Amino acid sequence: MLNLLSRVIQPSEIVIKKGSLIRLKFLDAKKVFIICGDESFEKYGHLEKVEKYLMASQISLVAVKKIIGDPTDDNVAKIANQLKASNADYVLGIGGGAVMDTAKLVWALYENQEASLSDFIQPHSIPESRNKSKLCLIPTTAGSGSEVSNSAIVTINGKKIPIISNYFVPDLAILDPNLTLSLSPKITAHTSIDAFTHGIESYCSSLNNALTNSYSLAGAKLIIENLEEVILYPDNVAAREKLLYGSMLTGLAQSLTSVGGVHALSHTVATKIKLPHGNLNAIFLIPMLKFNMQESPRIVEFIKQLGFSNIEKLEEWLSRIFVLTKMINQWGPYSKNINIDVISEATLKDICARTNPRKLTIEGVKSILEATF
Ligand SMILES: [Fe+2]
Repeated sequence: MLNLLSRVIQPSEIVIKKGSLIRLKFLDAKKVFIICGDESFEKYGHLEKVEKYLMASQISLVAVKKIIGDPTDDNVAKIANQLKASNADYVLGIGGGAVMDTAKLVWALYENQEASLSDFIQPHSIPESRNKSKLCLIPTTAGSGSEVSNSAIVTINGKKIPIISNYFVPDLAILDPNLTLSLSPKITAHTSIDAFTHGIESYCSSLNNALTNSYSLAGAKLIIENLEEVILYPDNVAAREKLLYGSMLTGLAQSLTSVGGVHALSHTVATKIKLPHGNLNAIFLIPMLKFNMQESPRIVEFIKQLGFSNIEKLEEWLSRIFVLTKMINQWGPYSKNINIDVISEATLKDICARTNPRKLTIEGVKSILEATF
C-alpha cells in the first residue's frame, strides 16, 4: 500500500557545483568501499582525487576498479563478496549509470547477506535497511540520473531486469561537473538524450504529477539549452554543470513516475544488440513521440514549453546532434537473426510500457522498429 502512494523520495543530501567532490573529506565513515569505472577513470585522475580526500580524513578504503558494461547477477555477486569481506561502512559508486547501478545492487546484497538479486525482482521487495553501510553515488556522465533514482538495471540469465527500491536512493549524491569534462561529445550526446527522454517520458507518464512535471521540464530545458554548446566546446564547465543538473532533475522525475515506450523499446532491443542505451533512445524517440501524440496532447504541450513550435523542430534539433556526433541512427545494421515480431511482443511486456501515455500495440511497436531498422 505504502508504495502505491505518490511520494517524493530523494537523497538526504545532494552536493552541487564544480569542485564539490571535496565533500568526501567530510564523509562520516571509517571504511569506504569504492566501485568505479574502467581505466579511463584512473587516467583522468578522478580516483586519485577520491583517495586523496578520504585519506586526508583517515578514512580507509577498498577500491574495485574496471566495472565494464552493465551489471549482471554474476559480477554483482562477486563484488558483493569482496564488500562482505571488507566490512566497509560506506559504499561509494562513482561512474556512469552502469557503475552506479552496480553500487546499488552490491549494497543490497551486502545489507541482505543471504539473498540473491532474483529475490528482489518484485518491485520494492528489498527489506528496509541501512544497517551495514550508507550509500554515496557520484555521476561522471550527465545522463542516467541513477544518482537520485530508485532503480538499477541488472541482467539475470541474459534478461535485463529493473530492480526497484526506494532504499537505492542514496544518502549522499555529489554532482561535480569537473568529473564530466573528459567525456567525448558522442558519449555526452548519448547520455544527455537518455536524460532528455527521462524528462519527456516522465511528463507524459500515466503517473505524472505537478511536482514531477516541474522537475521534467526544468531538467529537459537545461539539456536542450546546453547540449550543443558542450558538444562544440567540451571544456565549457558551466554548460557541463547545467547538463549535470538537467540529468539529475529528469532522473528524479523518472524515479517518481517511471518512463514509457521509448525505454520499453530500448530495453528490449538491447537484449539482442550492443548499442548504448542513450543511442537506442535517440533512435526511437521521435517515432515513439509521433505514435503517442495521436492520443496524448501532453507531448506537444511539453515540446512547446521547451520553445519548439512543433515536433518537427524538436526532430531538427535531434538531427543536428546526430550529425555533430556521428551518432548511429538505425539499429538494423547492428542486428543478426532478429525477429521483429518477437521483439515487438517482448516490448509490450517491459515494465516501462505500463506507464506509456498510449497503449502500446504490436502493430504500433512493429512499425517503429521497422521504420528505424
Ligand atoms: Fe534511460
